[in-house]
Amino acid sequence: MPVSKEEFKNALSKFASGVTVVTTKDADGNLHGITVSAFCSVSLEPPLILICIDKKAGSHDVFEEKGSFVVNILNEDQHSISNQFASPIPDKFLGVEYHTNGNEIPILKNALVNLECNLKNAFDGGDHTIFIGEIEKSHISEGKPLVYCDGDYREIND
Ligand SMILES: Cc1cc2nc3c(=O)[nH]c(=O)nc-3n(C[C@H](O)[C@H](O)[C@H](O)COP(=O)(O)O)c2cc1C
Repeated sequence: MPVSKEEFKNALSKFASGVTVVTTKDADGNLHGITVSAFCSVSLEPPLILICIDKKAGSHDVFEEKGSFVVNILNEDQHSISNQFASPIPDKFLGVEYHTNGNEIPILKNALVNLECNLKNAFDGGDHTIFIGEIEKSHISEGKPLVYCDGDYREIND
């Protein structure tokens, strides 16, 4: 018998992860962004990453349709950006500094890393979809990552 939802959440909350905001744009030109901690490296050759997005998320279908997206890995000062893109507000980009790439996808300013990706595959992952992206371009800045663990944001103190 599988574990209960509570056991699953309690166990997985102990796994520390970084925090990303994944951005894209729909066919009507509307910008979309969602806070995602379910992100990891997949392959070096070709350079692949994955993100998992809830099928109930408002922006879920846009990621399937658009074919390209940007993974913005947040730095330790960007708790409020994480919270903003995790909230069901009409304009998630309000007050957020960004520029757009050749595919007109927002690239968040001051993020620790920006990864410009093309969608390679989408797989069923229960109540989430696993999107595999091939990295076309990356941009790395100075700083430390924002960390999420045990239901809260953490900082790396070394
Ligand atoms: C730290 C953090 C990590 C999150 N990670 C994910 C994730 O990996 N996948 C996901 O689908 N939602 C994740 N969420 C929840 C979404 O960001 C949230 O449901 C968002 O409002 C969905 O946006 P949308 O419905 O406007 O597309 C996370 C939220 C937080 C605060």
